[in-house]
Amino acid sequence: MKIREIKVEELNTKEFISERTQEIYSLVGKGLAINALSGGVDSSTVTMLGHKALGKRLRTYFINNGLMRQDEPQKIVSLFQKLGVPVEIINAQKKFFQALKGIADPEEKREAITQTFYKDVFGKLVKESKAKYLLQGTILTDVDETVAGIKRQHNVFEQLGIDPKKAFGYKIIEPLVQLRKDGVRKVAEDLGLPESIYKRMPFPGPALSTRVIGEVTLERIETVRLATAITEEELVFINAFQYMAILHQDRVTGIRDGKRDFGLQIEIRCWDSIDARNARPTRLPYEVLDRLAHRIIKEVPGVVSVTYNITCKPPSTMEAV
Ligand code: XMP
Repeated sequence: MKIREIKVEELNTKEFISERTQEIYSLVGKGLAINALSGGVDSSTVTMLGHKALGKRLRTYFINNGLMRQDEPQKIVSLFQKLGVPVEIINAQKKFFQALKGIADPEEKREAITQTFYKDVFGKLVKESKAKYLLQGTILTDVDETVAGIKRQHNVFEQLGIDPKKAFGYKIIEPLVQLRKDGVRKVAEDLGLPESIYKRMPFPGPALSTRVIGEVTLERIETVRLATAITEEELVFINAFQYMAILHQDRVTGIRDGKRDFGLQIEIRCWDSIDARNARPTRLPYEVLDRLAHRIIKEVPGVVSVTYNITCKPPSTMEAV
């Protein structure tokens, strides 16, 4: 069935919010619904809509996979708490690191994360909660990319390890499926979500693991997490599409405390882009790069080299993995 797109120019956010809220309310009735919040604009918007419609009958979980940015789980949960929306953090770091152990291949990493999220962690929560409804922040671009084969198949039942025939009555509700990202941002703003959410810079689902070349370990995530925090602090004033720090697998020789040190290498990427399909490196002022490099060398243990990427996408991609 073809989904009717609601273009941002024709979107009446008040009407949209009222219609979707009523729809969720009438579908779920007196039952329970469940959803996973990541803090991205789509899942945040769905959480607010679901909360408006169902109040306490919506169970929202933040799955901490151990791959998020500094303090991200706590920041997101307390932001929602202020808005009156209870969110439970599920600490699943160990499971994710276990699943990622020994994997260096980019696609295998993504697969390990997807499997752990759906089959192991969220799948179990869904089954235990006895909720018959799952709220998902799928948008029209996700559907298009799935049909075009760009994204992995979004068959959520299959990913959750649930047989829809056996789990009779189990339903997925996708209130944002007629919208593109710009429409979702408008709805998010109208729902009272703060600018930090509705204007949020893109951040990938597999989180910092897309920025660790080679094996993802607790220690290597900690390195890239620190470098990311510094990069985000220093570049927050730059009007770029997305910026990031990447930890390389190769080591390079440097000098620290007068001694040779075969140390770590961080690459900075900062992108100008409209839709992430094409991108070019932002022409950052040299002083900004200089400050960034100094801080990373000083504050991130083991790093002896900082570089800036000057390659366009394509042939580069935005993330390193
Ligand atoms: P690439 O690296 O493909 O990134 O040029 C384009 C945009 O997509 C984001 N990205 C992802 N988002 N899951 C996601 O949810 C992923 O596996 C993934 N890989 C890349 C990336 O941050 C950029 O905005």
